[in-house]
Amino acid sequence: MSQKTDIAPEVFQYMPDEREVLKVKVNLPQSKIDTIDRICESFDNDPGELINVLHEAQHEFGYLPAEVQDVIAHNLKIPVAQVYGVVTFYTYFTMVPKGEFPISICTGTACYVRGAEKVLEEFKKELNLKVGETTPDGKFSINCLRCVGACGLAPVVLVGERVYGRVSPDGVKNILDEYRK
Ligand code: FES
Repeated sequence: MSQKTDIAPEVFQYMPDEREVLKVKVNLPQSKIDTIDRICESFDNDPGELINVLHEAQHEFGYLPAEVQDVIAHNLKIPVAQVYGVVTFYTYFTMVPKGEFPISICTGTACYVRGAEKVLEEFKKELNLKVGETTPDGKFSINCLRCVGACGLAPVVLVGERVYGRVSPDGVKNILDEYRK
């Protein structure tokens, strides 16, 4: 299979330069492409390091849009579908930008036992969102985390870096109101 068929044609165009070296063009700013190149190079462009590359890229950009996945696939010389498959398999990875106020509900054992699921349901209902989604105004997103190390405060919710402990479903609206102003 040629390299070209591995890459989304609507995103990439190959432009041979005078040295017949194939260059890749994507609708990402060059600075972002450089960042992805740097991340991939730090793992020797090794396809076996795909998950680590994706971790780094998500850490850098906050999420993994298709354009970023395309550049990673190109650099690691693997099909875009393989990258997409990994991104969609692991709940840790997201293709959607997080909200201005990302809400993370701990669903670790202690929090779960103390009712994290009901708290999560309340956030979903209040915001009309599913886990992994962001509100249309870009303000809130919902995510689930494993134990954040504050089990004594279970159930625990994070809004950005701020920690809320012993959250009850009744308290969800008050938390959101702090950020809705
Ligand atoms: S299980 Fe939620 S903080 Fe430990």
